[in-house]
Amino acid sequence: MTERTGCMVAIDGPAGAGKSTIARTVADRCGYTYIDTGAMYRAVALHVMRTGLDVEADADAIGELAGRLRFEFRAVGDEQHLFVDGEDVERAIRTPEVGNLSSPVSAIPEVREHLVAAQRTMAERVPVVMEGRDIGTVVFPDALLKVFLTASAEERARRRYEQRIAQGEDADYERILADQRERDRRDSTRAVAPLRKADDAVEIDTDPLSIEQVADRVLELLDDRALARLEGRDGPAV
Ligand code: DC
Repeated sequence: MTERTGCMVAIDGPAGAGKSTIARTVADRCGYTYIDTGAMYRAVALHVMRTGLDVEADADAIGELAGRLRFEFRAVGDEQHLFVDGEDVERAIRTPEVGNLSSPVSAIPEVREHLVAAQRTMAERVPVVMEGRDIGTVVFPDALLKVFLTASAEERARRRYEQRIAQGEDADYERILADQRERDRRDSTRAVAPLRKADDAVEIDTDPLSIEQVADRVLELLDDRALARLEGRDGPAV
């Protein structure tokens, strides 16, 4: 029996389109490893804040910093946390400040080079469901299945608002919507690896669908793709 490794599902899309929930659900159901690449960009931003580097003036130093950090996803209870150099940063990277800073940090080419290399290494030994902005276009252009999730800006902001309230945090819907619009604008217009649907990705508008419905659709597509590849009706083998 050949062991499966590599990127089985690449999920891309703008902030708040439901990528994390869907990627986690699909990974759980298939027994694959879930990788949240946004967490890695957030972790670099956290370290930029801690070291007092300036995102405009110190791009080279931030690139070097990204190359020194060691990323590892580990199970903590039934959650998956990102550890950086052995520290569990899962909580610290979820603040709005880190989220906002992660967008300009992720536009630095050297940061992307280091993180993309780390992401490819993570899929060398295990099959992964990876989510982000450039997984289907840059990190794994040969992923078995590529999905591009979308949702209206208002719906995405509403979901994030409810998530924060459910976590007992303060939240302001208008601020979330404005921050999200700014990040979407930056993420889609940056020079390196902008947010873009891969030509062969399947686009799913999640506005009218429940999480279960989206996850079922992705699993259905994955079955079709796996069968097509097995029968040689598809691209190169993973
Ligand atoms: O998905 P998120 O909000 O946690 O992502 C944080 C930031 O990182 C966001 O501004 C987009 C960026 N990002 C990226 O450029 N490429 C990825 N593969 C994942 C995230």
